Amino acid sequence: MGLSLVTFAVFLCIITAAIGLPYEQQKLLEKCSSARECLAGQICSSCRVELKGSRCVRSSTTNPFNLLNASLPFNKYAYLTTHNSFAIKKSPVQDAVPQVTFTNQEDTISQQLNNGVRALMLDTYDFKGDIWLCHSFQGKCQDFTAFEPAINALKEVGNFLSANPSEIVTLILEDYVEAPNGLTNVFNASGLMKYLFPVKNMPKDGKDWPLVKEMVAKNQRLIVFGSQRRKEQSEGIAYQWNYMVENQYGRDGMVRGECSRRADSSELNDRNKSLVLINHFRTIPIHQASCKDNSQDLINMLTTCYHASGNRWANFVAVDYYKRSDGGGSFQAVDMLNGKLSCGCDDVHACVNGSSSCTRGDK
Ligand SMILES: *[C@@H]1O[C@H](CO)[C@@H](O)[C@H](O)[C@H]1NC(C)=O
Ligand SMILES: *[C@@H]1O[C@H](CO)[C@@H](O)[C@H](O)[C@H]1NC(C)=O
Ligand SMILES: *[C@@H]1O[C@H](CO)[C@@H](O)[C@H](O)[C@H]1NC(C)=O
Ligand SMILES: *[C@@H]1O[C@H](CO)[C@@H](O)[C@H](O)[C@H]1NC(C)=O
Repeated sequence: MGLSLVTFAVFLCIITAAIGLPYEQQKLLEKCSSARECLAGQICSSCRVELKGSRCVRSSTTNPFNLLNASLPFNKYAYLTTHNSFAIKKSPVQDAVPQVTFTNQEDTISQQLNNGVRALMLDTYDFKGDIWLCHSFQGKCQDFTAFEPAINALKEVGNFLSANPSEIVTLILEDYVEAPNGLTNVFNASGLMKYLFPVKNMPKDGKDWPLVKEMVAKNQRLIVFGSQRRKEQSEGIAYQWNYMVENQYGRDGMVRGECSRRADSSELNDRNKSLVLINHFRTIPIHQASCKDNSQDLINMLTTCYHASGNRWANFVAVDYYKRSDGGGSFQAVDMLNGKLSCGCDDVHACVNGSSSCTRGDK
């Protein structure tokens, strides 16, 4: 009896291996009461009422550099992006004024990076004689909308880059800083300058970026884009829309079947910009709604935007509450993009040599 059970278990393993279920799909959506019952890279989370209780859902990305290789240009991979990455509940209280503003994420920047987030959207303001991450109220950072000094977040990025020497992080700054050299000073003080990818090496005219492995070899693993055109000249901070097209953000950008550019961006199908950023989050974040927003709706929008962008898959996918979904969520969406970008398949796992689930070139 013992033997037959073992035999049966071995048989099950062989069957599972034969089906070739991607690791991430095992246990997915099974009922759970704690994360221990789920696999690594999953959390136990209750999401939509339709799912009736807590289920195992994905909480981390597949790393395409590790799963495949880093021999493609930087613009041939997709990167999970958190919108307002700094706006989390229970931020350290910096002073006695209570926060009266909305949040967009649930865990720290370090946790986001460790879960595979590779681009952070940060709003930078002059505040209290320093640079802070903040939501704006009447165009300014206020005591009750301030989250933390920018240097705290930048130091978390620095710790991650130091501990993960093959990873690249992109920062996308909505920049309201007017203090002379304000951004330069805070980047310098954070110790991040040594990782900075130089603006002069960023391709204009739609050329490919350098290969990821070359960027890693040169230790140029931090890409910074900002929203102030003049700072490209004055401070060497790349003006985002010289290099990237971007769709409309907020509710106006979430109309099913439509993908329009935001006002600052050139046309989505402008191939002179080698990077494509797709936003998919509401104007006012709603925790519960982000489950649906980050699931099939996100995949649908990415497909719509692929066509609108001149048949280009997105490089950056920006969401709120990135771990909330009814299964694969934003992680599955990025796996899809990396599959499309790397080998034309619907999932990056299908690009691994010998995988039979998608024939290469079957785009
Ligand atoms: C895929 O196969 C090629 C050629 O055989 C080899 O160079 C490469 O390392 C393989 N890649 C992976 C991810 O196994
Ligand atoms: C950058 O930081 C270093 C060390 O913190 C400091 O010595 C240097 O003066 C700073 N440079 C600028 C341009 O602020
Ligand atoms: C792309 O750049 C080329 C060369 O500078 C220019 O002729 C063309 O008009 C540009 N295309 C768009 C859509 O801006
Ligand atoms: C890297 O991965 C891509 C996508 O799967 C593949 O086409 C390419 O042959 C790989 N290159 C090397 C050197 O393994």
